[in-house]
Amino acid sequence: MYETRFAEVLNSARETRKAVGSFTCYNLEELEAVIRAAERRKAPVIVLVSPSSFRSAGGKRLVRGFKAAGAHSSVEVLVQLDHVTERSSIERAAECGVDAVMADGSKLPFRENLAFTAEVARSMRPRGIGVEAELGRVEGQEDRTGEALAGAMTEPDEAVEFAEKSGADCLAIAVGNVHGNYSGTPSLDWERLAEIRDRLPLALSLHGASGLPDDDLRRAISCGVAKTNVNTELRAAYFGCLEKELGPASETLDLKRLGDHLTDAITEVVEAKLRVFGWTD
Ligand code: 13P
Repeated sequence: MYETRFAEVLNSARETRKAVGSFTCYNLEELEAVIRAAERRKAPVIVLVSPSSFRSAGGKRLVRGFKAAGAHSSVEVLVQLDHVTERSSIERAAECGVDAVMADGSKLPFRENLAFTAEVARSMRPRGIGVEAELGRVEGQEDRTGEALAGAMTEPDEAVEFAEKSGADCLAIAVGNVHGNYSGTPSLDWERLAEIRDRLPLALSLHGASGLPDDDLRRAISCGVAKTNVNTELRAAYFGCLEKELGPASETLDLKRLGDHLTDAITEVVEAKLRVFGWTD
C-alpha cells in the first residue's frame, strides 16, 4: 500500500498524542501567520484551501503560491484542498501539487460515499496525494459564520467497513461537532468517539474545532483525534483586527502596517491552538 506524506504526518502526531493543526487560509497574511506560529511551536501544519477559494479565478495560483511559500519554512507545511465533491476539482488540485484532498461524500448515501472515496483514493494515493473522507455529517457553513446544530453522527459499524474498503488515509467524524458557531453549548459524544477510535486503524479528524473548549479539544486528541480543522476563529481574529485598524490605516493608506497587524493577530490565535493541540515543547 502507498504511504502518503499526509498519512505519515498524521500517524506520527497520533503516536505522540498530538493533533496536526489544519487551518483554512484565504490569503497570504493568513498563510504567513500559520507558518510563523508553526515554526514557533515546531509543529507540522496543514494549510486548508476552501473549495470556494479554489473555484475562484485565482484558485490554482493560490494553491501553487501556498505550496511554494510552505517549502520555505523550517517545519513541514502540507496543503490540502478541503471539502471537495467533484472529481474534476480534485484532478485540478492534484495538477497544482496539493499534498492531500478531502473527498467529501458525506451528503451521499453510504455506498455512494464509499465508492466515491475509493475511486479518489485509487487515483490520488499512487501519486502520493493523501485522501480524507467524511462519514456522518458535520453541519454548518464553511466560509461564513452561522450557528449550526449537530448533524448525523458517524456510525461505528459503517466506519469500520469504510476504513477497510475506502483506501482513505484519514476519516472526518461527526460526533456532535459543527462548522462555524455552536448553537448552544457543544456536547461531543465521547463514547462514540472512543468506540470509533478503538475499532479503526485510520487517523481521525475533527472538523469544527473553532468554538470547542480547550478541554474538549485536549480530550478529543487524547481519544485519538490526529487532525483538527480550524477556520472560523481565524476569520474572527481577522475581522476583529480590521475593525480596529481601519481608522489609522485608512488615514495613512498604510497597507504594510495593516498586513503586519493582521498577521500578528492571526499568529496569536494559531499559536494558542497549536499549544492546545499538544505542541508545547
Ligand atoms: P470551523 O470554521 O468551525 O473552525 O471549522 C473549520 C473546518 O472544519 C474546516 O474544514
